[in-house]
Amino acid sequence: MKSVAQLAHEILGRSQQRASTGPQQLKPETTEWYREFLGFDTFDEPELEDMLTAVSVFLNAFRRHDHRARYWLTLLGPCGIGKTHMAKAVFKTHRATSSKSQRYTRWIDALNYMRDGHHDYPSELAREHLLVIDDVGAEHGSEYGTQKLLEVLEKRMGKWTFITSNLCMETFAEMDNRIASRLIRDHNTVLEVKCKDYALR
Ligand SMILES: Nc1ncnc2c1ncn2[C@@H]1O[C@H](COP(=O)(O)OP(=O)(O)OP(=O)(O)O)[C@@H](O)[C@H]1O
Ligand SMILES: [Mg+2]
Repeated sequence: MKSVAQLAHEILGRSQQRASTGPQQLKPETTEWYREFLGFDTFDEPELEDMLTAVSVFLNAFRRHDHRARYWLTLLGPCGIGKTHMAKAVFKTHRATSSKSQRYTRWIDALNYMRDGHHDYPSELAREHLLVIDDVGAEHGSEYGTQKLLEVLEKRMGKWTFITSNLCMETFAEMDNRIASRLIRDHNTVLEVKCKDYALR
């Protein structure tokens, strides 16, 4: 399976490693503060430590550096690794610390709402200062779903967006290369986490 970095190289012709969204590492005491705040166990596993760091940097960025380049963080990985746990924490943190608009939606709910005739919903989602889209790809295979996802993502470029999915980057690229490209374009970051379900530990 191709890695995010390989796909970034193929799609964009360059590496996904960029340091343009500000400090990618926080001070150790700040990371410890976020570890406690997020209630996230990492079991000393490097992949879970990376997930904690990526989410902490994202939270820190919109809390303290809102004027800097706004970007997306996409967490990809199997069931039960804490993606929704992080998605809800991102939403609640923004709601508690910012007066600007925010929304949390499961992608399947957003799609059903659009299917019910709410054709302006992509524009509504585009207006939010922070948008959390949980579980993208649960509807994998639907042409309507792919088209709507592309429409929403297109409108979200340059805005704080947190995405989670069970799909891997390669599947996104097969679904629609334009979606995969946007996930890693500009300052947007993708983290693929492969570890076991929290419930199995
Ligand atoms: N690293 C972790 N530390 C603390 N709690 C965790 C961790 N990972 C998962 N959990 C807990 O395990 C449960 C399942 O996690 P969650 O729903 O976030 O998984 P998920 O990655 O979204 O799975 P799915 O792909 O099925 O939606 C939740 O109660 C969550 O709080
Ligand atoms: Mg989930």
